[in-house]
Amino acid sequence: MSENLIIFDARVVTPMGFAARKGAEMGELLVMDHATIEVTDGVITYVGPNRGENRDGYYQHYWHYNARGRCVLPGFVDSHTHFVFGGERADEFSWRLKGESYMSIMERGGGIVSTVKATRASNFIRLRAKAEGFLKQMNAMGVTTVEGKSGYGLDKETELMQLRIMRSLNGDEHRRVDIVPTFLGAHAVPQEYAGRTDDYIDFLIREVMPCVAEAGLAEFCDVFCEQGVFSIEQSRRLLLAARGMGFNLKLHADEIVPLGGAGLAAELSATSADHLLHASDADIRAMAEKGVVATLLPLTAFALKEPYARGRAMIDAGCAVALATDLNPGSCFSGSIPLTFALACIYMQMSIEEAITALTLNGAAALNRAGSIGSIEVGKKGDLVVLNTDNYHFLPYYIGMNCVIATIKEGVIYPS
Ligand code: NIG
Ligand code: FE
Repeated sequence: MSENLIIFDARVVTPMGFAARKGAEMGELLVMDHATIEVTDGVITYVGPNRGENRDGYYQHYWHYNARGRCVLPGFVDSHTHFVFGGERADEFSWRLKGESYMSIMERGGGIVSTVKATRASNFIRLRAKAEGFLKQMNAMGVTTVEGKSGYGLDKETELMQLRIMRSLNGDEHRRVDIVPTFLGAHAVPQEYAGRTDDYIDFLIREVMPCVAEAGLAEFCDVFCEQGVFSIEQSRRLLLAARGMGFNLKLHADEIVPLGGAGLAAELSATSADHLLHASDADIRAMAEKGVVATLLPLTAFALKEPYARGRAMIDAGCAVALATDLNPGSCFSGSIPLTFALACIYMQMSIEEAITALTLNGAAALNRAGSIGSIEVGKKGDLVVLNTDNYHFLPYYIGMNCVIATIKEGVIYPS
């Protein structure tokens, strides 16, 4: 569903452009007071000074919204989540509180594999209903586009089911959030393939990925490139095959140990490399040169009590940095946009302006959508958020609390 909408007296706060903003450009926002935003059939057709909302009766076929000086930003783009899954892992969370590590839980058969069991045991309707609940919560925090990964099936049937759930939610006429699907069959090695990681990769390449590609069920292929999961060589083999089938590439890179996943992302010119807690200086420079979006997930570092990714160093090296939540039942059971803003600004030395670019235009670039979303400009989708204040500094300052009062999806207003 799309609408005609005229917003007047807005304080527009937006990055500008139709591609990722890199390095120092990330801090450059347009701030325009007393602005009008015109959305026609869901697409932005005017942004500029107020023109009087009833000019020649032209706007009689538009919904009217008076922003009364409040901030209006582009809709937030959460470019890394795992929001379709069965079960929960609250027990593991309590073990981690007692000192056990994320990887040691995974090594003894918990972690991702335990969510795989719960997801396989569930069904389309139940998984869809649960995923839809997350989408509603995300939307209330201003998210208008979300990436979602498979990776809790690790068999053909359940991987395809996760992707079909995303397709069905995306096709919902009343959807508030667009979904970009990613195939993450290489999230862990399932028990049937224990000790046979290369055979599992062969299975994905020969039997699963061709079906996903043929049905157009995923735009991206991702891999958990990590010590004890998928090595650099195995990740490279999988991603090269994926590229040959038409997928764009993403990596979970250098999350737990410095393995060199960020360097592999640069070598393959992946769209993004994600996590990057332990990315080396040389690999950061390589990502900047190749235009790989560095997607940082501060909620995961927070939840795992790990050091934060070096957002400041990456921006200073000329990278395009995106921020995302990583919502998943294990390492980070949170899709909180407000807390993501706060952690990025307080602990990763990102400026408020850079964090806004990272959650809008650069998030869009991490999904190959910088041409159609991520900024308030003519020709882009009318995906917007309205804050309860004229001061956009509230985004990180109002810590973990929601200052979004309305989310607008292609010109349709949804109060938070
Ligand atoms: O991004 N690291 C791998 N994948 C997720 C965690 C998934 C899970 O624990 O269920 C992540 O942290
Ligand atoms: Fe993840």
